[in-house]
Amino acid sequence: MSIAIVYGSTKGNTTGVAELIKSNFGDVDLINIAKTTPSELNKYDGLIIGTPTYYDGKLQDDWEAFDKEALELKGKKVALFGVGNQRRHSTTFNNGIGILYELFVKKGAEIVGDKNPTDRHTFETSKAVVDGKFVGLVIDKEVEGDSLEDNIAKWTNSVKKFF
Ligand SMILES: Cc1cc2nc3c(=O)[nH]c(=O)nc-3n(C[C@H](O)[C@H](O)[C@H](O)COP(=O)(O)O)c2cc1C
Repeated sequence: MSIAIVYGSTKGNTTGVAELIKSNFGDVDLINIAKTTPSELNKYDGLIIGTPTYYDGKLQDDWEAFDKEALELKGKKVALFGVGNQRRHSTTFNNGIGILYELFVKKGAEIVGDKNPTDRHTFETSKAVVDGKFVGLVIDKEVEGDSLEDNIAKWTNSVKKFF
């Protein structure tokens, strides 16, 4: 099964999380969304997709510019991870993966991997919360502290079961 971790990152935090996921996962490709195309991603059997949130609840710039509608996701397994900041952006915390989740579900993706409980974070509202849980892995580097690598490893293991 061919799997890619696909991420967007402006300041490097999401790149770091994507690299940690890869080191836990093993044989997967690591792809920056700024340097790929829908047809390249459509070749993969499974996608692990990450975005930070920017500009009051929007997708990171490279994800914004990418032609997401051209992704073929019907029946494809997709896992989602998001990076945000609850202290500065409490009302739009990690909105980015919520936006991708809504679009990808509409396009027929099967979302896999642990849905993180919300009690590890303190925030007002987030588009990433569906039925009381985050739609995937949610990271705020200010909150994770020493648990960052453990939290990523635990979630990665939950995704591995599906691939
Ligand atoms: C201008 C700006 C707007 C942001 N807006 C949000 C937001 O609405 N929600 C959120 O959770 N984080 C927000 N953040 C925090 C970023 O998502 C966070 O710093 C993240 O780690 C950046 O990821 P990157 O280093 O991969 O680009 C914002 C950061 C900046 C600089």
